Amino acid sequence: MKNLLVTGGAGFIGANFVRYLLEASDFSGRVFVVDKLTYAGNIHNLAGLEERFQGRYRFFRADICDTAELERIFREGHIDAVCHLAAESHVDRSIHGPREFIETNIVGSFHLLELCRRQRGFQLFHHVSTDEVFGSLGTSGFFTEQSPYQPNSPYSASKAASDHLVRAYHHTYGLPVTISNCSNNYGPYQFPEKLIPLMILNALEGKDLPIYGDGQNIRDWLFVTDHCRAIWEIMKRGVRGQTYNVGGNNERNNLQVVAAICDCLDRVRPSPDGRSRKEQVRFVQDRPGHDRRYAIDASKLKGEMGWTAAESFESGIVKTVHWYLENLDWVEGIMNGEYREWIEKQYG
Ligand code: NAD
Ligand code: DAU
Repeated sequence: MKNLLVTGGAGFIGANFVRYLLEASDFSGRVFVVDKLTYAGNIHNLAGLEERFQGRYRFFRADICDTAELERIFREGHIDAVCHLAAESHVDRSIHGPREFIETNIVGSFHLLELCRRQRGFQLFHHVSTDEVFGSLGTSGFFTEQSPYQPNSPYSASKAASDHLVRAYHHTYGLPVTISNCSNNYGPYQFPEKLIPLMILNALEGKDLPIYGDGQNIRDWLFVTDHCRAIWEIMKRGVRGQTYNVGGNNERNNLQVVAAICDCLDRVRPSPDGRSRKEQVRFVQDRPGHDRRYAIDASKLKGEMGWTAAESFESGIVKTVHWYLENLDWVEGIMNGEYREWIEKQYG
């Protein structure tokens, strides 16, 4: 893999992955980023890379549904591998308006696959997917690579559809592919519509901390750099045609997550009136079709590649809170934009 295209590279995981890869000691190739820069994409997430990695990094603003533009980029960059992250990624938005999820996540993935199968000397299409394709767990058990697909939201259904397309392109056309299904990520550059950054910023501003339903829904949290390392391991060593589950073995319910954030902020940035941020918690209407529990069995990845998460939830959350405190100008840049309107409508 010499000329790697990263789709969605200006998003949360994409930007972390591009940075990870350019700094990796075992990758000396070139990285081409394609991103439409939707509300969630932020060119500032890639700041400094052009200068630091001259000749090894290029950014293209493009829609993965724009086949002519993609074809041009493939030709110009002699693309021989793709790490596909571009997607509409927020479950709540998919409930309010699924159309873009279908267009980008399904149709966009299809266009990319078509291009890849026609590209000479093509090495690998890695598809970054989610554990949400497996649906919801009861109080026990884990998702394995053999778990049946039971997506419950328009978002997860669109990701499931793209997983199936990727698998089919391997089976039918022999396209070299790998797929990773990962649990909830958190860390630097995450757009503040997702639980952890939203709670950090609302807590800081003295706003309500909206908890859906009873707050007992469980997610398996993974620090984003651990996910990036897993993706790269799978791209290098994963068996073509296989899927790999990625998870941190860090199950927490939403109330526990919010309590950890409040405790950290109360310690490092006490509120002016000395009250705990936990007093800002408000229970609000539940998300329709809200999945109760996700938990990943990542033993295949551990067994084949020795991968385990390096970050514990406790250390990762402290790092994340500090990152947001130190990057409030990044947050301000987002809040000034169109997202402001949406967030006001959602949360007042
Ligand atoms: P994100 O919303 O932060 O980033 C998505 C990026 O894709 C944005 O930069 C956006 O501009 C870009 N994009 C959207 N539509 C596009 C289009 N039509 N053409 C080109 N670019 C487009 O999402 P994220 O949290 O970084 O997730 C990245 C990928 O990882 C997604 O595929 C998501 O399903 C998957 N994933 C996310 C998590 C998580 O917890 N965040 C967990 C598992 C898997
Ligand atoms: O599991 C992987 C998935 O994790 C990814 O595929 C998705 O792209 C990513 O967005 C994430 O989906 P979730 O729906 O789990 O993440 P979110 O941060 O939106 O919500 C996490 C939990 O917190 C969920 O149970 C809903 C709850 N929640 C969320 C928000 C935004 C609240 O209680 N209040 C909120 O305001």
